[in-house]
Amino acid sequence: MSEIQNAAAEKKQVIFSGIQPSGTLTLGNYIGALRNFVKLQNDYDCIYCIVDEHAITVRQNPADLRRRCLELAAIYIASGLDPKKNLIYCQSHVSAHAELAWILNCFTYMGELNRMTQFKAKSAAHADNINAGLFTYPVLMAADILLYQTNLVPVGVDQKQHLELCRDIAQRFNGIYGDVFTIPEGYIPKVGAKIMSLQEPEKKMSKSDPEETYIALLDDADTIRRKIRRAVTDSDGEIRYDPENKPGVSNLLSIMSALGAGEIDAIAAELQGKGYGELKNRTTECVVEALSPLQSEYKRLVADKAYLQSVIDENAKTAAYLANKTLRKVQKKIGYAPRG
Ligand code: TYM
Repeated sequence: MSEIQNAAAEKKQVIFSGIQPSGTLTLGNYIGALRNFVKLQNDYDCIYCIVDEHAITVRQNPADLRRRCLELAAIYIASGLDPKKNLIYCQSHVSAHAELAWILNCFTYMGELNRMTQFKAKSAAHADNINAGLFTYPVLMAADILLYQTNLVPVGVDQKQHLELCRDIAQRFNGIYGDVFTIPEGYIPKVGAKIMSLQEPEKKMSKSDPEETYIALLDDADTIRRKIRRAVTDSDGEIRYDPENKPGVSNLLSIMSALGAGEIDAIAAELQGKGYGELKNRTTECVVEALSPLQSEYKRLVADKAYLQSVIDENAKTAAYLANKTLRKVQKKIGYAPRG
C-alpha cells in the first residue's frame, strides 16, 4: 500500500457530541454522555463541543455563562478526555456552526420542528420566552454534527428525536446536491441512556429540576448519600428491575450497572432480600467511587484558567479548519457567489 492509502486506511471514524454549559451537570449527563465520550476517545477522532449557542435559547446570566464554559472544559478534561487527542472547544468560537445552521434552516420544515418533544417541553417550562432559537434548536444541532462529517453521536435517549431529524435533513440535502454530508448514527448506551429523577422516577433526571431530584457531578459524598437515601422507591420491598412498576428501584439498579457494578439482573440477584437500605448504600458507594476522581481532578484544573483558555483556543482553530471545509462545500453547492 502507498503512504496515502495507509493514511486513508488508518483514518478513524468521527465522533461529535456536545453538552450545554447551562447549569450544574448531573449524573444523567455523566452516565448518558460523558462517560461514553471517554470510552470512545481511543477508537475515534472525537469532537466534544461546549454548546453555548444552544444554551442561550434559555435566558442566561452572562457572567455565569462565561464561567460555565471554562468549567465545562475542566469537566471534560477531568472526566478523562485528553485535550490533545479530542477537540474540546466552544461552539460560538467556530462561526461555521451558526452559518451552516442558517442554511439548514432553509431545508427544514416547520412541521418537523413542531413535532419535537423537547421543544414542547421547553416551551411549557419557559412560557415567557418561547423564542425562535428554541424552535430551531435541533437545526443548530444538525449543523454541529454535519459540519464534521460525523459517523457517530454519543447521546442519551432524550436526544434521539433530534438525531433522527439531523439524519432526515442530511438525506434531504444529499438528495438534492449529491453526497455532501455523512449520515450519522446515534450511540445510545444500552444501560443508563435515561437516568431518572430521584424524586419522580417516571421523569428524566434534569438539572432544571429542584436540587434533591438529581445528583450533581460535583456533589460531595455526604450530599450524594443524603440524596440517594431520600430517593423515592416503593413499598413492596423487593429488589428487581421493572421500570414500569418499580421505576425508583430500577433507576438505582441502572445507575449501579452503568457505573460498572455488573449486569442489572446479577446486581438485583445479589441484593435479593437485603432491603432498600442496602440497595441505596451500594448505589451511593458506586456513585461516590465513580465521581470522586473526577471531582479532585476538576478542582485542580478549574483553578488553572489560563490552561483551560489555551485548550479551547487551540482546539477551536482546528475545529474551525475542519468545519470550514464542509461549510465551503455546502456554500458552493447551494450557489453562493465564489469568494475572490
Ligand atoms: P444536554 O446538555 O441537555 O445534555 C448533554 C448530554 O447528556 C445526556 N443526558 C442524559 N442521559 C441520560 N440520562 C439523563 N437523565 C440525561 N440528561 C441528559 C443528553 O442526552 C446529552 O447527550 N442538544 C444537546 C447538546 C448538543 C448536542 C449537539 C449533542 C448540541 N449539539 C450535537 C450531540 C450532538 C443537549 O441539550 O444536551
